[in-house]
Amino acid sequence: MLQNYISSRFTKRALLLLLAWGLILIATVQLRQAAVSNGGNQNSVFLQSSKESQTNQQPDSELDKLLIDRRGPRSEDELVREIEERLPSLPLSYWNLYRVKQQQSKPNRNETNQGGCLPRYPSIFELEFNNAYWQTLRTNNGTFQLFGAFYDVRGLSRIGPAIRIVGMIDRIEPTVRTYCQMWWENERYPRIVEILEYKYVWYKKWGNYKQGIYQPYVIACKVPQSHWHRGAPASVSLVERRCDTASNNLRVIYNRPPNDKKHDFAVCVKGLDFLHEDLSVRMVEWIELLNLLGADKIFFYELQVHPNVSKVLQHYERLGRVHVTPLTLPGHQPNVPGFQHLYLTKKTNHKRQNELIPYNDCLYKHMYEFKYIVLLDVDEVIMPVRDATWRELMDRVMPKALKLRNETRASYNVRNVYFLDDLLHSHGAFKDIPSWAHMLQHVFRSKNFTKPNQYIKCFHNPERVVTLHNHFPLACLGAGCTSYPIDTTDAQLQHYRADCVKSLKKSCVEYRENSVLDTTIWRYKDQLIPRVNSTLRNLGFFGPVS
Ligand SMILES: *[C@@H]1O[C@H](CO)[C@@H](O)[C@H](O)[C@H]1NC(C)=O
Ligand SMILES: *[C@@H]1O[C@H](CO)[C@@H](O)[C@H](O)[C@H]1NC(C)=O
Ligand SMILES: *[C@@H]1O[C@H](CO)[C@@H](O)[C@H](O)[C@H]1NC(C)=O
Ligand SMILES: *[C@@H]1O[C@H](CO)[C@@H](O)[C@H](O)[C@H]1NC(C)=O
Ligand SMILES: *[C@@H]1O[C@H](CO)[C@@H](O)[C@H](O)[C@H]1NC(C)=O
Ligand SMILES: *[C@@H]1O[C@H](CO)[C@@H](O)[C@H](O)[C@H]1NC(C)=O
Repeated sequence: MLQNYISSRFTKRALLLLLAWGLILIATVQLRQAAVSNGGNQNSVFLQSSKESQTNQQPDSELDKLLIDRRGPRSEDELVREIEERLPSLPLSYWNLYRVKQQQSKPNRNETNQGGCLPRYPSIFELEFNNAYWQTLRTNNGTFQLFGAFYDVRGLSRIGPAIRIVGMIDRIEPTVRTYCQMWWENERYPRIVEILEYKYVWYKKWGNYKQGIYQPYVIACKVPQSHWHRGAPASVSLVERRCDTASNNLRVIYNRPPNDKKHDFAVCVKGLDFLHEDLSVRMVEWIELLNLLGADKIFFYELQVHPNVSKVLQHYERLGRVHVTPLTLPGHQPNVPGFQHLYLTKKTNHKRQNELIPYNDCLYKHMYEFKYIVLLDVDEVIMPVRDATWRELMDRVMPKALKLRNETRASYNVRNVYFLDDLLHSHGAFKDIPSWAHMLQHVFRSKNFTKPNQYIKCFHNPERVVTLHNHFPLACLGAGCTSYPIDTTDAQLQHYRADCVKSLKKSCVEYRENSVLDTTIWRYKDQLIPRVNSTLRNLGFFGPVS
């Protein structure tokens, strides 16, 4: 009984306790659930909505409205094409070929017979690049920065087929011996020849004639006679010891048109350095005018340009009338945009020496494709005086030149005359010509031309020129660098500037005091204005394109 009583009492208490505990438990669990569902709700809503946007592409989602590039990564083939366009000197497509070939089998006896060495084809990932577009060779006495390599089989060349490499060496009169390793397709090992010459593209009297400063050179290697029938090698490396694995490897460029059918005129423009100066509208007028005169293509090199200038260049590139090659300064020279401009402004000799690289690169790239190569700045135009086009001008000039001496010249030069900005300002703008047409507006020039052979520009004959300078060739094939001076009654170099070059400050005063009206350019007015007008409109210079 007592036991029963106790136990029943115990049981009751236990049951009560259990009940109480249970209530507390339920209460806490419910409280907790409430807390979780409150705080967690936002979370789940977020998750749900992001899930929705992943599955059924809502067009009005914030992410989808962002104007970003959605093309995704490129395939390897696309990458290769992109790299080849950007770095034409890199023999990307051959590398894979050689790599496989050299691994495949043992060299045969003929191949081991080349001075006892079998240089490895350098991996494109082990090449030494300098400032993006240059490949480097370090020797015990001088560093080479190489920009481009070309196959030269021009008829007048007495050294036979050769490779010419355009680049810079930080030495004057380099004495170090170097070798070309020439790689042909279908051969596992290179032909090795000592270089023939370092051709200096500068005169020492112009300054900067010092060791340690990068100097412009065109380096030549003769193709061995055993390989004359093989055509252009695929690539070439420059090494200090014959058997070295090279630190550089340049595709050998050989742009030979089918049936040697040449266009008439290529224009080459040195590395553009117009970061802040928006020359876009003037450039449209310049490009359109050159096209009217008969320039088949304009090859620009680009250091830094204003985004509006890029827009113009890209437009004409799409039309195939312009090609732009990116460019940097080699070695320790600055490539940071604003700083580079300051450097080029202050160090004019360095600037001039660096300019010779794009000029010579342009000559060798296009020597088989065009009858004439013309080096111009974007403020210069070779203007025929009596003819409508450059071709008609040359048809008039050639018989005169041949009558004087019966042979083609290395160049045909045109004399410089200034069309200075302020000559117009004293007159006032011409009402029937749009104010944005700078050249058509500026029709007052100094009466006098600059002296013969000073500041001239030429039609260069690429069959004869070996090295080019801004104003005239420095080395030529055949009978030397002969130049025919085109009569000022036949053509003039119209030079549009705010002021004369510094070295002509004194004469400039007289040029200003003796000016004449020269409206030769107005012959192109009716064609030029609509063309420039519509291009400016299409590119949005008159406001958003609707
Ligand atoms: C080596 O070269 C000779 C002639 O140049 C040729 O006839 C021969 O087949 C070559 N041998 C091999 C193994 O390629
Ligand atoms: C290094 O090259 C220069 C020419 O660029 C030459 O004058 C000099 O003697 C050379 N030095 C040596 C140690 O060969
Ligand atoms: C000029 O030279 C060419 C060959 O180069 C020759 O055919 C031609 O007869 C010469 N003309 C004159 C007038 O001597
Ligand atoms: C311009 O030409 C005249 C006549 O030919 C000449 O006397 C004068 O010195 C020239 N001026 C300049 C700056 O060349
Ligand atoms: C430029 O083109 C527009 C539209 O075609 C035309 O209205 C305008 O008159 C043109 N301006 C000039 C200066 O030709
Ligand atoms: C030219 O550049 C200016 C300044 O960056 C810009 O406002 C303008 O829209 C550009 N013009 C064109 C046609 O893109």
